Amino acid sequence: MTSLTISPGKALRGRISVPGDKSITHRAIILTGLAEGTTTIKRYCRGADCLNTMRALQSLGVKIDESVDEMRVYGKGLWGLTEPDGIVDCGNSGTGIRLLTGLLSGQDFFSVLTGSASIRRRPMGRVVKPLREMGASIAGRKGGELAPLAVTGTTLRAITYASPVASAQIKSSLLLAALFAKGTTRLSEPRLSRDHTERLFHFYGLPLKREGTTLIMEGRPSVGWTAAPELTVPGDLSAAAFFIVGATIVPGSDVTLSGVGINPTRTGLLEVMDRMGADIQLLNQREEAGEPVADIRVKSAPLRGVTIGPELIPQTIDEFPILCVAAAVADGETLITGAKELRVKESDRIATMATELRAMGAQIIERPDGLVIQGIGKSKENGRLRATSGQSHGDHRVAMSIAIGGLTASTESVIHDTDCIGTSFPDFGCKLLELLTDGR
Ligand code: S3P
Repeated sequence: MTSLTISPGKALRGRISVPGDKSITHRAIILTGLAEGTTTIKRYCRGADCLNTMRALQSLGVKIDESVDEMRVYGKGLWGLTEPDGIVDCGNSGTGIRLLTGLLSGQDFFSVLTGSASIRRRPMGRVVKPLREMGASIAGRKGGELAPLAVTGTTLRAITYASPVASAQIKSSLLLAALFAKGTTRLSEPRLSRDHTERLFHFYGLPLKREGTTLIMEGRPSVGWTAAPELTVPGDLSAAAFFIVGATIVPGSDVTLSGVGINPTRTGLLEVMDRMGADIQLLNQREEAGEPVADIRVKSAPLRGVTIGPELIPQTIDEFPILCVAAAVADGETLITGAKELRVKESDRIATMATELRAMGAQIIERPDGLVIQGIGKSKENGRLRATSGQSHGDHRVAMSIAIGGLTASTESVIHDTDCIGTSFPDFGCKLLELLTDGR
C-alpha cells in the first residue's frame, strides 16, 4: 500500500495539463470499438478504470493498441463483438460495469461482469431493473442488485423509462442497450446528468433526439458509423478540480490548466467556486470532438461559505470531496443538500469526507443527504487546516482532496492507502510537485 506525503508552505504556480476526461474516455473506447474502421484516441485517461474498459473491449474481440500518448482502436462495427472467454473485470469502475452491462445485454452471447470489492458493494439494480424491462436476462447477487452480473445477451425491446436518479451511468447504460433494441426507446431523468454519451452519439450521427427532457433513441440503425480517424479527449475537469481548489486556497498561487473540458453538465464546481469568491478565468475557449474546452487560470482568493441545493448536484457530483475542503477553509457556513448519491460512490463520501476533515480541525455535521460545514475562515486559523495522518478509504477523490487540504496546514501530512489515485489520475503526485516546484 502506498502513501502520499504533503509538505506545505509553497504556492502552486505554473501551467500543467491534466489527464483526459475519464467519463469521455470510457465512452470513446466503447463507441470506437463499435465503429467501422480505426480511430486514434488522443489524450485518453490512462487511469486504471479506463484501462479496464479497454481490456473489456479487447476481451470482446476488439483489437486495441495502446501507448502512453494514444490508443488505437480497430472498430468491429455495430454487430462485431464476440463472446469473451473469461470474466470481464471492470476493476473499481462504476461507469465501466454499468455501461458494459447495458452494451452486453443486447449482444447474442453470454458474459459475466465483476469488479473490485468496492464495486461488488455498489448498487447495480439501478441498471439491471430497466434492462430487464427491455427483456435482458441478467443474474446477479441479491437478485441482481450486486455484481458479479451474468448477462445472457438477447434481442432487446425498446422501453419508455423515467429514471428515478439523475445518473449518467444509468442513462448511458440504457442508451447503449437501446442502440441494439427493436423500436424507439424514450428515457428521462429528474435532472440533466452529464451528456457525454449523447454528444458522442451525435458526433457519430446516431439516431438520437431530445424532446424537452426526454431522449428518444431509434434502435438497430440500418447502417453503423464510420470511425473518425482521430478523437481527442478533453482534459478532465474532475481532475483539474483539485488544482482549481488548491490554487484558490493556497495564498500566492497562480495556476493555468490547459485544455480542460467545460461541458455545462460538468461545471457545477466552477459555478460554486465563483459564488464562494474564487478568481477563475476561462481562456481560449474552443471545441474538441463535440465538447467545449478551455484553459482555466486560477489565482488564490479568500472564500466564503455558500448553499448548494439539489439543482446543482448532478453537474457537481464528483467534485464534492474537494468542495468540502474549500468549504472547510472558507469564511462562514456551507450547506449541501440533496446529495444522497454521494453515499454510493467509491466510498460513502459524506461520511468519509466528514471523518477526514474533522481530523484536520474542520467542523462538519453529516446529514442523510449532505453536509453542514462551518468554515475555519481567515479570522481564526488563517484559513488553515491541521496536518493529518489521513485515510483514502479506497477512494481516489477522497485521497486527492485530503492531499490538497494538507497544503494549507503548517506541517507535513501523510495520506495512507493512495494506490486508488491510479484509478483516475496516476500522476497526480507528479503534477502537484510540478506546481509546487514552480511556486518555490
Ligand atoms: C459518471 C457518472 C457519475 C459520476 C461518475 C462518472 C459517468 O455517476 O459520479 O464518476 O461517467 O457516467 P452517476 O451516474 O452514478 O451519477
